[in-house]
Amino acid sequence: MEMVREHRKFVVPEIITGENARIYAGKYASNFHSDTVLIATDTNAFRQKWILEILLSLDEAGTEYIIFSDIEPNPRDYNVMAGAEAYLSEECTGILAIGGGSVLDCAKGIGIVAANGGNILDYIGVDLVKNPMPPLICVPTTAGSAADVSQYAVIRNAAKKTKNLIISKSLVPDVTLLDTVPLMTQPVDVTVNSGIDALTHGIEAYVSNGASHFSDLLALESIKLSAGFFPFSVDKADDPDYRFQSLMASMYAGIAFSNAGLGLIHAMSHAIGGLYDLPHGIASSIVMRSAIQYNYSSSIRKYQKIARILGVSPDITDDKKVVKGMFEKIMGMRGSIDNPLSLSVYGASKDDIPDLVARSAGDPCIATNPRIPGQKDLSNLFESLL
Ligand SMILES: [Fe+2]
Repeated sequence: MEMVREHRKFVVPEIITGENARIYAGKYASNFHSDTVLIATDTNAFRQKWILEILLSLDEAGTEYIIFSDIEPNPRDYNVMAGAEAYLSEECTGILAIGGGSVLDCAKGIGIVAANGGNILDYIGVDLVKNPMPPLICVPTTAGSAADVSQYAVIRNAAKKTKNLIISKSLVPDVTLLDTVPLMTQPVDVTVNSGIDALTHGIEAYVSNGASHFSDLLALESIKLSAGFFPFSVDKADDPDYRFQSLMASMYAGIAFSNAGLGLIHAMSHAIGGLYDLPHGIASSIVMRSAIQYNYSSSIRKYQKIARILGVSPDITDDKKVVKGMFEKIMGMRGSIDNPLSLSVYGASKDDIPDLVARSAGDPCIATNPRIPGQKDLSNLFESLL
């Protein structure tokens, strides 16, 4: 009944799926009248053979391009500013982002600054981007961040070591080309950590207090697909069916969270990811159990449904045992990838807790968490991770 009364809006980009979908990059650049595109990418992606078909498609469309690959993981504010400078000085008229979440987020940042001026840090927050970005075409090379379908970008303030969210409808790309081929060249650890990120998006969107029928539909389907995709291993790396499943899981979860919002896992993950410069999938894995345990009582029916999809036996009904079972299933999905999941391994100490609490309390993801934690709750949560 609640869902009938509450108003919800949905934003989704144009989406092309299928093997070799990347070859449409030139056609879309031409449709968008982008005579010169800035290709935002990373040096690893740009070394791969499959990039050639993308460049060929641009040539065939008569589109000029410049390449900007100075993008670090957890992209920094200065990466964005250097990209925006290149975009403006070369008089580009569109952006083609080819890469994982860091590249896609940085490309969005470049678009914001190119269209609005100032510094990227001026736009941290919700709905602060006034002018629409230039046309943005995405070719994601990982299945996880879903920045290619979302209205989110995460930029790291290098001086303050904070990961900051920019959320705006203006950040939804114009088109994403969901191609299995670029995924084949990703190593297993990147695949697994990206996949855990997608699963986290599905879980958080499903229990979010901004959820809707539409987002629930996509979130549940993404969790089902993720459960079927994992554990991922080397021998599955070249299987296009597996890769396609992971892309769909990521896309469904991305549309779900982009419209429903995220929650405590991401608020805490951004805090530690910023301070210790950790990969996002690892940071989320570290906080997941404590965050789900904290949230569980506020959304028991939904968490139980997730637990069943992940394979926790219906005979297990005790709340604590359900959470334990769910966490074990998720950790099982990590397969042979066993990054240490304790914060102290990454240099954290008790002295950092007040800072981590302040960061996560100020993260916009907290607003849609099903249970709003106080300072003491957050402090206990971080302490449990040391
Ligand atoms: Fe995420």
